[in-house]
Amino acid sequence: MSSKSTYILAIESSCDDTSAAVMHNNKVLSNVVAKQEIHEQYGGVVPELASRAHQQNIVPVVDIALKKAGITKEELNGIAFTQGPGLMGSLLVGGSFAKSLSLALNIPLVAVNHMHAHILCHFIDEQGYDKPEFPFLALTISGGHTQIVKVNSFFGLEILGETTDDAVGEAFDKSAKILGFPYPGGPLIDKYAKEGNPKAFQFTKPKVDGLNFSFSGLKTQILYFIQKSVKENPNFIEENKADICASIQYTIIQILMDKLKLAVKQTGIKQIAIGGGVSANSGIRQTLKQAEDKYKWKTFIPKFEYTTDNAAMIGIVGYYRYCESIFADSSIVSKARIEF
Ligand code: KG4
Ligand code: ZN
Repeated sequence: MSSKSTYILAIESSCDDTSAAVMHNNKVLSNVVAKQEIHEQYGGVVPELASRAHQQNIVPVVDIALKKAGITKEELNGIAFTQGPGLMGSLLVGGSFAKSLSLALNIPLVAVNHMHAHILCHFIDEQGYDKPEFPFLALTISGGHTQIVKVNSFFGLEILGETTDDAVGEAFDKSAKILGFPYPGGPLIDKYAKEGNPKAFQFTKPKVDGLNFSFSGLKTQILYFIQKSVKENPNFIEENKADICASIQYTIIQILMDKLKLAVKQTGIKQIAIGGGVSANSGIRQTLKQAEDKYKWKTFIPKFEYTTDNAAMIGIVGYYRYCESIFADSSIVSKARIEF
């Protein structure tokens, strides 16, 4: 890798968070995230409103990121941005902004895959955080994806399994919606689960071959269970909130752990890194830590601020691509779906 001093501005706008970060090599100088509360009232992200909010937020967010980093835009060496996957209207805002700024400053543009970034966030240089060694297994769990990836090198990634329907974040958010929680409900399930009994209610785990996942059946099961229980007792949710949340979370964690155990068995790799918004979940973090002793795994759990969408993770991939001179030209287009 390069021993030069490199400043990269990174932009993330794939869904409903507008974020800008400034990296100095593999260190984060600033990482600013503007959340969009407008979606809470709709029970999910409204694409049209998300792109409008990105347009409003992008200039101030970049400005704050540069100020916090203590550098001017003229000192930047490159601009990294999320090319995909994500919502097209949201991606276009960050992509067009990054392209224009790179042209104006006459510095290279670097395109980054959002899921690649959720995995490589572990290579951000942070005190107290070890970096995984290649090859390792990555479990990426977010609002849009659920994948087990074999990571052979910075740019050599192999998807071993993925969801065939809903992502694990959707399983959390849709369950939360059934319980009447606002969007995104994942963090609320996590919060209430802390007080509850994870074995209070039993949900069956889906039977899916190999390393693939399925979460849509679980959502339907939860919906029918809640509808039936509320019919018998209208206060059922309020009286059992903690136990319901703990039981849902426990089932989801068991589904993830079963597949991870199988992936370790199939590959012989015992280094596991998690990434994506759902890796903020305290139950998942705790269960993985316990697996270090239980199964002799080495686990890598991102710093909280690098779990949900943020530009620092785009910046670390941007830095490694910049070092390899993998630049995008001005004809680059945003992509709602994209391979590694
Ligand atoms: O990676 P991310 O910020 O956006 C996508 O790329 O999708 O992930 C967002 C997802 C949402 O589904 C949200 O409910 C979930 O991450 N999430 C959580 C927690 N924090 C965020 N799910 C469970 N427990 C949490 N603590
Ligand atoms: Zn994400």
